[in-house]
Amino acid sequence: MGQRIITVQHTVLADRLTLMRDRATPHGIFRQAVYEASAIMAVEVARDLPALEVEIETPLEPTRGQRIRDEVAVVPVLRAGLGMVEGFLRLLPDARVGHLGIQRDHTDHEPIDYFERLPPGLGETRVYVLDPMLATGGSAVRALHHLKRAGARQLQLVCLVAAPEGLRALEAEHPDVVIWTAAIDRELDENAYIRPGLGDAGDRVFGTL
Ligand code: PRP
Ligand code: URA
Repeated sequence: MGQRIITVQHTVLADRLTLMRDRATPHGIFRQAVYEASAIMAVEVARDLPALEVEIETPLEPTRGQRIRDEVAVVPVLRAGLGMVEGFLRLLPDARVGHLGIQRDHTDHEPIDYFERLPPGLGETRVYVLDPMLATGGSAVRALHHLKRAGARQLQLVCLVAAPEGLRALEAEHPDVVIWTAAIDRELDENAYIRPGLGDAGDRVFGTL
């Protein structure tokens, strides 16, 4: 079976993605667009979370309902992934949050680890790895490797823009991981930037251009 790659189709998501792609969009509006796009992604990715049947009382009578059954964690890849956390926590406020600091080397584009702090109990947790950009795939491959080593077994990667090269890298290294994206772009350029892309996501989220 091939890798599951799901491109989320939603007019509001497409609207926010276009704002993000526009070079004229200032960092405050870019950050807000990442937040809103991530909330839409969170609705989609959480659709199949297992539910627990519960009995409750409305103000009028007893009834049955459903609550989220399992532990959920979100793990942003620093820095740009931080921009996606709030949108996920809006929908999944009980989620634990892990952090993986991974930066691409400017010359060879290889991932460099600089921080790791993960929640306990990852083996029984649905883990959403958050990173808006999947370019060469090096950062995501590394992040998923760290999470598997820490015991995570139910891993999904949530990005906003993916390059075919990054999707191929994940297929080779982590074919068990479901990938969610808002768009699959054309290609990488000679600097390993996604084209048409949206530029450097971390710099645009944090205004460090
Ligand atoms: C960006 C982005 C991803 C990575 C994608 O991070 O946020 O983590 O590049 O590229 P890859 O698929 O080729 O690994 P960057 O290294 O620019 O760090 P930043 O988020 O701190 O700006
Ligand atoms: N990281 C980014 O932020 N943008 C790209 O296009 C590629 C990697």
